[in-house]
Amino acid sequence: MNHKTSPTDSHLLSTADDESVLVLSTSSIMKNITTLRNLTIGLLAAASISAAADTLPPTPYTPTPEIIKARQQFRDSGLGIFIHWGIYSMFGQNEWYLNRGINAEEYAKAASGFYPANFDASQWVKTFKDAGAEYICFTTRHHDGFSMWDTKQSDYNIVKATPFKRDILREIADECQKQGLRLHLYYSHIDWTRPDYPSGRTGKETGRDSTLVDWPHYYAFMNEQLKELLTDYGPIGAIWFDGWWDHDEDKTPFDWQLQPQYAMIHELQPSCLVGNNHHQSPFDGEDIQIFERDLPGENTAGLSGQEISPLPLETCLTMNRSWGYTVKDRDYLSADDLIRGLVRTAGKGANLLLNVGPQPNGELPHDAIVRLQTIGKWMDTYALTIRPTSAADFGEQPWGVATCRDNKMYLHILDPEKKIILPIDKKKIKSAVGYLSRKPVKISKNGSETILLPGEEIDPSQPDYVIELTLK
Ligand code: GLC
Repeated sequence: MNHKTSPTDSHLLSTADDESVLVLSTSSIMKNITTLRNLTIGLLAAASISAAADTLPPTPYTPTPEIIKARQQFRDSGLGIFIHWGIYSMFGQNEWYLNRGINAEEYAKAASGFYPANFDASQWVKTFKDAGAEYICFTTRHHDGFSMWDTKQSDYNIVKATPFKRDILREIADECQKQGLRLHLYYSHIDWTRPDYPSGRTGKETGRDSTLVDWPHYYAFMNEQLKELLTDYGPIGAIWFDGWWDHDEDKTPFDWQLQPQYAMIHELQPSCLVGNNHHQSPFDGEDIQIFERDLPGENTAGLSGQEISPLPLETCLTMNRSWGYTVKDRDYLSADDLIRGLVRTAGKGANLLLNVGPQPNGELPHDAIVRLQTIGKWMDTYALTIRPTSAADFGEQPWGVATCRDNKMYLHILDPEKKIILPIDKKKIKSAVGYLSRKPVKISKNGSETILLPGEEIDPSQPDYVIELTLK
């Protein structure tokens, strides 16, 4: 075990295979896709395509009292679980598999064999809840364009295109409500299968007919799907968009028409937060700021570097190196490292959205389950030092981080070998005790330095040692 290793040290590079591209000959992909498209066209052509798209929302966005409350609830959540699951899981080569020069029509055949016999939403939700999570974020539709719910907008979905025929999102949503976890929905703006999506810098080799690109049609399709998600599945805590970056190299900036879409979401569910994993500072209309593979203020993966906004923050991280199930990737961080990752994230004032990539048979990988169990045990004791808290204003220190609530400050000693120098005046500290032992911790002063001396109290076999300060 190494106290100094954090999840940001070694697990931040996206899988190199993601970017590999084989050259394919143009295929007859469009037959099926065009059929799907025609099926949806009638619905989408209806005048109600997107009420939101007709009415421009007020700029700048002013969050309603419901949203302000939901933002605070989100801020206080500490830990969420990200679930990357779709037909890509069957290939066992992560969720970008289709981008590797694979023909979308061939890929789509996997759907007819998708039968996750061991899927049990109640087990999943219980596992996540027991881990100490307050919410989950489920991939309803990833870049491959396959929908994990019974959408009426496309037959390429879990109910109509698989022998499983069960609405997975419905089962997850029902369980979340039963067990009291909030449900967030990941939704990809990119679609590597539909010909109407104007492709950007990814998914170019899937055999789509580029003459069928039709942004207004695709935009209306997305809005209709979002309407379903926000009207048929109970309360949704957040819509988590991804894929904006597909067009970040366009010569003429691509207009995703985000604001009307965001306004529609806020109108359909007034407490639903909007987040977008665009790796930029938040855009107008967004409620949370997302960081991918890095904690706020860090940029080891090359996706961050954007300024930290006053919005609630969330960092999404993987346990191994992959989001979607990847057979060859058993390179998991230890549970202790994940706990330290959670602590450091809280120390930056952010939530940790920790990823799990379920197997094609519907089971969560054993490696993930055991880690979630260890995190859960730790949270049974320490959750209140993580949430609801805010970050100490002095940020990360050589010894660790601090979180605060009311007149309490929790010092998380992540590197017990470092001297615990506190950037606060000794006079402001009423008392200091070991969080678990409740034994007083000595405080000394060396010039202007306030130094804590927990001595024997520190148990180096633990991932984190917590000292509770009561401030005057
Ligand atoms: C990236 C990837 C995507 C993954 C997401 C999670 O945007 O494209 O596959 O779902 O990160 O943060």
